[in-house]
Amino acid sequence: MPVYHLDLSQDQMEGSTIALLPGDPGRVKPIAEEIDQNSRELAYNREYHSYLSFIGNTPVITCSTGIGGSSTSIAIEELAELGIRKFIRIGTSGSIQEDISVGTIVITNGAVRLDGASDHFAPMTYPAVSDPAILFHLIKSAKKLGYPYRVGITASSATFYQGQERYDSFSAYVPRHLRGSLEEWQKLNVLNYEMEAATMFVLCSTMGLSAGCVCGIIAARAKSEHVAMDLKAETVKRTIEVAVNAIKSLIDEDM
Ligand code: URA
Repeated sequence: MPVYHLDLSQDQMEGSTIALLPGDPGRVKPIAEEIDQNSRELAYNREYHSYLSFIGNTPVITCSTGIGGSSTSIAIEELAELGIRKFIRIGTSGSIQEDISVGTIVITNGAVRLDGASDHFAPMTYPAVSDPAILFHLIKSAKKLGYPYRVGITASSATFYQGQERYDSFSAYVPRHLRGSLEEWQKLNVLNYEMEAATMFVLCSTMGLSAGCVCGIIAARAKSEHVAMDLKAETVKRTIEVAVNAIKSLIDEDM
C-alpha cells in the first residue's frame, strides 16, 4: 500500500535512508539529475514529487515538500515511515542582514519557530536545531565549492507576506503584532526567512531522525521586498550543488 499523500510504496524506495527535500516539485528532477543522470521518477501526487537516484550503490530520494510547515510535516512523516532517517532541505530564502546578498548560501544551525506546525510535535520551549553531522557536511561542501556562505539562525515563518513583514501584498496590511518583527529578528542576529526549517528540525529531533537545511538567498530583505528573479536560477543551482556534495561526503564518511 502506498503512503497516502506521497503515493510512494516501500518497494519503490530500494532501501533509501537519505532524502533531499526541495519545496518546489519542479526542482525535484534537476536535483535528482545533479546526483545521477539515470535518476527515475517515482511518484507525483499533489505537491509531492519524488525521484530515486544512486550515489554509487547508495539510493537517495529527492521529494518535494510543498510550501510551509503543514505540507513539510506530512512529507517527513510519510518518508520516515518508508525508511528515511536523514533529511536535507534545499530551499530558497530572503536574507534580513545587510551584509548577506542575493546568491549567498545560508546553512541553518537553528530556527525560530514561527512555522505554525512544529508546536503540534513539541512545546514551544523545545529547540529547533540542525543535526550536527549534516551541518558539518553542508559547511564543508559550501567551503569546498567556494560559494559565499553563512551559518546561523533562520526564522521559519508560516506565511510569505505577513509573517515576513512584506507590505507588497493584496491588502498591504501587516497586523500590529508582526509590524517591526523583521527589524527585531535582524537585531537578534537572525540571518534569513524561509518557511520549513523549524518544522523539519523539531519533527526530526522528536522522532530521533536527522535534519539539515541549506538555502540560497534570492531576496535581500534589508534592501528590498522583491525576489531577485535575474539571479534566482544561479542561486538555486549553487544551493543544489552544496546539498548534493554534502550528501556525497556524508555517504563517503558512513562507508
Ligand atoms: N522564501 C521565503 O520564505 N522568503 C523569501 O524572501 C524568499 C524565499
